[in-house]
Amino acid sequence: MVDIKKSTKDGIEVFEAEINGEKIIWDSGLTYNSHLQIEKLLSSQKLISDKPNEMMFVIVHQSMELWLKLCLHELNIIIELIKNDEIKKPLKTFDRISAIQRHMTQSWEILATLTPTDFLTFRDYLKKASGFQSYQYRELEFKLGNKNKDLIIVHRENKGVYDHLVQTLNSPSLYDEILMYLSRKNFKIPEELINRDWSEPYQPHSEIESVWQEIYQESERYWDIYMLAERLTALEYYFQEWRFKHMKTVSRVIGNKQGTGGSAGVNYLTKALDLSFFPELWEMRTTMKNS
Ligand code: HEM
Repeated sequence: MVDIKKSTKDGIEVFEAEINGEKIIWDSGLTYNSHLQIEKLLSSQKLISDKPNEMMFVIVHQSMELWLKLCLHELNIIIELIKNDEIKKPLKTFDRISAIQRHMTQSWEILATLTPTDFLTFRDYLKKASGFQSYQYRELEFKLGNKNKDLIIVHRENKGVYDHLVQTLNSPSLYDEILMYLSRKNFKIPEELINRDWSEPYQPHSEIESVWQEIYQESERYWDIYMLAERLTALEYYFQEWRFKHMKTVSRVIGNKQGTGGSAGVNYLTKALDLSFFPELWEMRTTMKNS
């Protein structure tokens, strides 16, 4: 039996033991488990079938939701900094988001081990539950500028979530904030783009394409904004990779079957690959000339 030395410090019981020559200490205050809410986390996998593959399905979804939570948290930090005209500090936060995105994209590989046979053992148990109902994903899309407002109806019954999505819908997206920043820095940003109904999808504008061209062509002069633009490009690039792998994994698991949420399935997910959060940043790559 290992000897445990007990003492008290500031009203907290402190324990000390030696195991294999290593000192181990812990106390009755904050623990790994209480800080990280491990019991709550590990009791959140409420399986609805007795099929062995459902556990992986649930855990992959839950992990993605946790990463979405972190992406939203980091994105809020970026938006606040940009509102305050700080564009160097967000670069590090953008890099963190990109690292999370790559990790999320990689995690489709785990889901891809689900064969059509495996999935069919529990698919009917899911009833109409679908990724359509991921409110964090919808919030992220809104924050990035895909203001597809009708999709929030699926959250009508959940007032807190619904109101939050409406508020996000009616707020400027990351790109809107960046255009406002550029306007404050005297770039020629059309008034109708920075004084508009934020709940409407952003419409690409040739003047914005010209602004990005100027920034890219005079990259030395506008270095910080140029770096910011490259981070935006990376964010969209990795977002599309995630969408593509989702679509491909779904195709591998259910073929062209309808989704549990009622959509055409793979066909719906493929259409999303044509969406663009920062359209002029992609357009200007075609029209850009050697400076
Ligand atoms: C076998 C696994 C999966 C299948 C077969 C699947 C299938 C689908 C389908 C068919 C749709 C279209 C909506 C519908 O009709 O239901 C969809 C949407 C969605 N799925 Fe998945 N999915 C899977 C895994 C995941 C995972 C792991 C996530 C991670 C969060 C996820 C997140 C989403 C989201 C956010 C949407 C809405 C996309 C949008 O509106 O653009 N899905 N999924």
